[in-house]
Amino acid sequence: HRHLLGIAGLQPHEIGFLLDEAEQWVAMNRATQKHDNRLNGLTLINAFFENSTRTLLSFEIAGKRLGADVVNMHAAQSSVKKGETLIDTAMTLNAMRADMIVIRHASSGAVQLIADKVDCPVLNAGDGRHEHPTQALLDALTIRRRKGQIAGLVIAICGDVLHSRVARSNILALTALGADVRVVAPPTLIPPDLDRMHVARFTDMDAGLDGADVVMMLRLQTERMAGGFVPSLREYHAFWGLTPERLARARPDALVMHPGPMNRGVEIASSVADDPARSAITEQVEMGVAVRMACLDVLTRRARGMEGWA
Ligand code: CP
Repeated sequence: HRHLLGIAGLQPHEIGFLLDEAEQWVAMNRATQKHDNRLNGLTLINAFFENSTRTLLSFEIAGKRLGADVVNMHAAQSSVKKGETLIDTAMTLNAMRADMIVIRHASSGAVQLIADKVDCPVLNAGDGRHEHPTQALLDALTIRRRKGQIAGLVIAICGDVLHSRVARSNILALTALGADVRVVAPPTLIPPDLDRMHVARFTDMDAGLDGADVVMMLRLQTERMAGGFVPSLREYHAFWGLTPERLARARPDALVMHPGPMNRGVEIASSVADDPARSAITEQVEMGVAVRMACLDVLTRRARGMEGWA
């Protein structure tokens, strides 16, 4: 693979390979000296057309810890605001001889469009409702480290699945790795193409959490509901919020996850999000840096005269 545009198209052993590669970076990132020089001389451009805290910063840190020169382009401060097209912006980044481009964009498919035009590997940092592959990889790594393996686990992905690229990438990755994935959501927030994804569907939160090993909550994405039905936040919390009482339906050792940013008191109660025994939310962020280091390393191997990864 030249690019990382989605989990779709990756074989289970390729997903496992990226997770294995990330382990060395988890170890290095926990040391005092966090530097490797394998990407010396290469330029990473992070082009973010949508806001981000975790993904942007972790790609920046990942690139720097591997020795790359890292430049961030925030669309809000760029010539995108003067009407420049997506393709013209992409060709501009390409002309500056980027060696890796990381892109986040509000439109599904926008990252593929750019990948088809530029000369270097492109990594999808989230495109519309489509995919967020490095999020799924960091979630899989978090689960694998906490639970020992992914195959056979009951994983409940809960909430606003309709608008979630995180849910789509996670469904693809976790089913590929052998998990028993459930989607737990109100009927209005289930994507129409879910039937093709080999997951069980629950429209009752308590039933969906019953016996789960992992409870993955999703942010209610009201910003993507313009013109449509927007639920009352209080009502949403009452029916779909993860509270300690609801979590009691899952297994006693169930792991609680959330990709962030969280709407505290909406999809998740603070007491659950902050429970050190149950919540893996900050560990997910830590794994994000390691997974992104692995992806940058692996995707630039050909350019560095090494054998490609797949
Ligand atoms: N999980 C995630 O993608 O977070 P950011 O939007 O802050 O990057």
